[in-house]
Amino acid sequence: MNVINDITRIQVGTYAQILKGGGVVAFPTETVYGLGASAVNPAAVLRIFELKGRPADNPLIVHVSTYAMLVEFAAEIPAKSRILMQKFWPGPLTLVFEKRKEVLDMITGGLSSVAIRMPDHEMALALLDASGPLVAPSANVSGRPSPTKAEHVHDDFGNSVPVLDGGDCIVGLESTVLDVRSEPFRILRPGSITAQMIKDKTGLVVVEADIMPSEDMQPLSPGMKYTHYAPDTPIRWMTSEEMSGNIDEAVLYLILNSSGLTKEMKNVIDFKDDMNRLGKELYDWFRRSDKTAYNEVAIQPLDVSEKNDLAKALNNRISKAIKK
Ligand code: TXA
Ligand code: MG
Repeated sequence: MNVINDITRIQVGTYAQILKGGGVVAFPTETVYGLGASAVNPAAVLRIFELKGRPADNPLIVHVSTYAMLVEFAAEIPAKSRILMQKFWPGPLTLVFEKRKEVLDMITGGLSSVAIRMPDHEMALALLDASGPLVAPSANVSGRPSPTKAEHVHDDFGNSVPVLDGGDCIVGLESTVLDVRSEPFRILRPGSITAQMIKDKTGLVVVEADIMPSEDMQPLSPGMKYTHYAPDTPIRWMTSEEMSGNIDEAVLYLILNSSGLTKEMKNVIDFKDDMNRLGKELYDWFRRSDKTAYNEVAIQPLDVSEKNDLAKALNNRISKAIKK
């Protein structure tokens, strides 16, 4: 997909040197742009928290391009998790393992586990091959929508962070986070890889963390407790009934299926039932709503049934972007 030309290859080499020297570089993945720093350099990891304004108890995902890198961080790799890696790596599935004691506490927010993924993007893999394992949270200032284009990273960090430009991210929503430390494996953050897809490809039945009885108060995925992904423009759900005949120029409408509700306009985006396109473009529309100074973003509620699609991940991100 992302064929690397000579110029990109040179840039990857230069950026890998910056990373090895303890610097920070943003790079594309199939999900969103990541803000990368060496996963074995405490000063570099600290810089990530400072740049993003990220709470110290929100752990980072370690990105790898080889299994050799994985075993530097994971203390135990359960047999069934290997099947998942075979089927879904490289890809938008982050696995949470028991961590090796050498893993920096700063990365894991003091937890005994570590989250690891192998991104499905030629540039990211080439960079990782050259730099070694990288921590890479989404390359946005904390609380802002994740970046799906190089310009989004630039909007948040200006010239303080060099960006490897890989064009638009294909998925547009952050990876599925799956805890594989005990069975049944648990989805801590929904993403484009669904429980149904995992079952179809591997036969493994995984559960969603929020349907588990909360017998303890341990935070499952600390990041999920923070407001996220939000533009300054207020976001709200708006049913088809509310929308029909009430289109307001100052509102940006994101509609999965307009089914004759209204025609497409500058401020009325009809995704024509293409959930993947909504996933790919959601954060860009969030960011554009601020730039265009809309009063509000109105989104048609999604059908979150057991279907093998992005509805759950989208519903999760949109709900979290709605300010209470
Ligand atoms: O798609 C992605 O995962 C992107 C790209 C850049 O790879 N990265 C990303 O990172 O979304 P970030 O830092 O924005 O989100 C990481 C999520 C947070 O919700 C965090 O709490 C969770 O992963 N996480 C990290 N380590 C964890 C751990 N040991 N246990 C549970 N959750 C963990
Ligand atoms: Mg993030």
